[in-house]
Amino acid sequence: MHDCLVHALLGVLPGAESRWVDQERVAFLCPVPGYDRHFALCERFGIDMIPVPMTADGPDMDEVERLAAENPAVKGIWCVPKYSNPDGVVYSDETVARLARMETAAPDFRIFWDNAYAVHHLTDEPAELADLLGACAEAGNPDRAFVFGSTSKITAAGAGVAFFGSSPANVKWLLANNQKRSIGPDKINQLRHALFLRDADGVRAHMERQRALLQPKFEAVARILDAELGGTGLATWTSPKGGYFVTLQVPDGCAKDVVRRAAEAGIVLTPAGATHPYGDDPRDAVIRIAPSFPGLAEVEQAMHGLTVCVRLAGYEQRAGRAA
Ligand SMILES: Cc1ncc(COP(=O)(O)O)c(C=O)c1O
Repeated sequence: MHDCLVHALLGVLPGAESRWVDQERVAFLCPVPGYDRHFALCERFGIDMIPVPMTADGPDMDEVERLAAENPAVKGIWCVPKYSNPDGVVYSDETVARLARMETAAPDFRIFWDNAYAVHHLTDEPAELADLLGACAEAGNPDRAFVFGSTSKITAAGAGVAFFGSSPANVKWLLANNQKRSIGPDKINQLRHALFLRDADGVRAHMERQRALLQPKFEAVARILDAELGGTGLATWTSPKGGYFVTLQVPDGCAKDVVRRAAEAGIVLTPAGATHPYGDDPRDAVIRIAPSFPGLAEVEQAMHGLTVCVRLAGYEQRAGRAA
């Protein structure tokens, strides 16, 4: 994703009239809540971010279509289409179809389709995601989609193999650029992955084992949130069917306070605001919980601590308002 942005800025994309860096302004649509590393890339390269609200079917498509159609500076959209966006939404078939066929003022508009959680199911009903590349080709926009995958959350975080899928013109463009960047990718790591995972069945079997590790942690998160915050009116949370995150919504103006109190108690959370462009959650209400790394006992301990912090912050705010 980083390299595609850099190459689009410094080289001419298929269908583009000029390099992005030669444009006065480049902007990306950012469904919120979203993924902090996407936002960090935009900030690093001076790409403006335009937040778009998420719905249960994916980004608000009326808003996406309007913004993409009216402004040629809007060059792309970040999408985590399945699970962990961080809310756990799976884009509906209609959303995928609309993204593929919508009018864009920029001829070189790209959908950055970060399908990092394609096989990360937590239940017996794996969600199906429509084929964006096929839909784009069918709609007459074959070069619109950049599809990314990664084994980062399958084998070893930080030592995964990344995948890029797109139209022949886009693949040729990326390969030509990458040949300048490095003479050879890490073939030993690719071989390691090929020998370990072998094929699609091998990936499925491996992810079942991941699920056996993860499901109890997600159940613990849900159980403790329910026991400690259920009925308080202080919080709502997602119950994802896959992926590695749970989104916790606390009262407006409380998220930073909760994260700060948790840190004082030794509980490390993703910074409040990380799910929004520029780290700015205008309601200061969203907290992303990632229970994948710690052991079960630690997850339970951390969740008890976190729910105490939510109650403290929430009730103090209520008391302050009442006073
Ligand atoms: C949405 C999303 N994309 C990508 C990644 C990681 O990809 P990689 O480590 O291959 O850069 C993650 C993992 O944290 C993720 O959550």
